[in-house]
Amino acid sequence: MAKLAETEGTSFVQWFRAAAPYIHAFRGKTFVLAFGGDAMLREDFVDLVYDINLLNALGVRLVLVHGVRPQVEERLVQEAQYVQGRRVTDSEALEHVKDAVGSVRVDIESLLSVGLPNTPMAGAEIRVASGNYVTAQPAGVLDGVDLQFTGEVRKIAVAPIRDRLAAGEIVLLSPLGYSPTGEVFNLTLEEVATQAAIALEADKLVFILDHGDTIDSKGRRINRLTAAQVPKLLRELPEGDMKLYLPHAALACKKGVGKVHLIGADVDGAVLMELFTHAGVGTMITRQSVENLRPASIEDVGGIVSVIEPLETEGILVRRSRERLEQEVEQFFVDELDGRIVGCVALYPFPETGAAEMACLAVAREFRRGGRGDALLAAVEEAALEQGLTQLFVLTTRTTHWFIERGFILGQPEDLPAPRKELYNWQRRSKVLIKTLTA
Ligand SMILES: CC(C)(COP(=O)(O)OP(=O)(O)OC[C@H]1O[C@@H](n2cnc3c(N)ncnc32)[C@H](O)[C@@H]1OP(=O)(O)O)[C@@H](O)C(=O)NCCC(=O)NCCS
Repeated sequence: MAKLAETEGTSFVQWFRAAAPYIHAFRGKTFVLAFGGDAMLREDFVDLVYDINLLNALGVRLVLVHGVRPQVEERLVQEAQYVQGRRVTDSEALEHVKDAVGSVRVDIESLLSVGLPNTPMAGAEIRVASGNYVTAQPAGVLDGVDLQFTGEVRKIAVAPIRDRLAAGEIVLLSPLGYSPTGEVFNLTLEEVATQAAIALEADKLVFILDHGDTIDSKGRRINRLTAAQVPKLLRELPEGDMKLYLPHAALACKKGVGKVHLIGADVDGAVLMELFTHAGVGTMITRQSVENLRPASIEDVGGIVSVIEPLETEGILVRRSRERLEQEVEQFFVDELDGRIVGCVALYPFPETGAAEMACLAVAREFRRGGRGDALLAAVEEAALEQGLTQLFVLTTRTTHWFIERGFILGQPEDLPAPRKELYNWQRRSKVLIKTLTA
């Protein structure tokens, strides 16, 4: 029993420590979290509310966007008419939408107000702000059919939302928008969430799927995607929320939202696992196109030098002569964007020990925070695994947390393969970080 408690305690402590870099990184960041009307009908919706509470407590600026599809459908007497996948909202349907939005909004506000002892909400005093933050316009006529009160987002009231977030409140947006002519329009939650994330320059946009999971047509989990890969995947995906949300995710990335996450609703704590562990449980979409990430050739040496030279001058990377780079260029991968090298990384295998060193990971300053570092790491991990290597190590003086967040653990110079240990620079005192790779 004591042993079990000890193991549980150890894994808790390890997990909590591993989450620390995220806790720091997320404070003050803006996340838009969108979930459909089905989520609220689930018994475990309260778990999502607990996770929202936790993110709020950690200082994340949260905008929630809820859906109401099942709640509206339940109220409709007549079956709705659809044109190109868009529902026609007549004046009667609009009344049901307003009714459903009102009731769902109150339910969410009430759940976020719980502060009962013996629940994760104990002591929480969450304030929720909602209102006319979304301006809408009519979607118009499609294929000769007037969509009536079906609308499109025209504007998001960025400054008032930011004020509420800065005051520590959670902002709750509904799939409704108001027009300067005094009309109300029915919107889709995915459009509201995407436009809000773009307008607020959100760091993350998170969609929780109501139906289906983040898997491809062969049932394989899709962990990472770039906006450029989305159109091809869309052609292969079956109908479902993944297919519905992906175009919005790609648009958000292209318009500057840092990262978009799609998460299946079936795993308890899925939001926390996706956001606080490097491996995640859903799909993360970033802007950069991987087509540009490729093994380097001799023509790339100039580009690599332009990326690493400023970092060598700052002492972040160890200086390499141009000659050495020319000799070793085949060990490098480069990230090329519009013909310019914007990132690089090198892989030096030590096959006799089953390990490889990752070195010279760098992204040009103006291109950082777009998931490029992650993509370069993924390329190196894949190449190492292809060579049958199962351990990746890196020596760094300033970027320890970045690696720890990505599954590396702190080691010692003694852990290095013998030939590398001999070259270890004791004056530089780099930290040794090690990651065990799994296919
Ligand atoms: C480390 C590096 C390659 C990351 O590149 P990137 O393209 O910005 O990486 P990503 O977009 O995938 O990740 C960015 C995240 O890493 C975080 N990050 C950047 N530098 C970090 C550091 N030194 N410690 C901890 N986190 C760091 C950013 O805050 C950002 O977090 P967020 O997404 O929560 O906002 C880039 O910062 C770099 O070139 N650094 C200098 C060179 C270096 O230190 N190399 C490693 C030694 S080999």
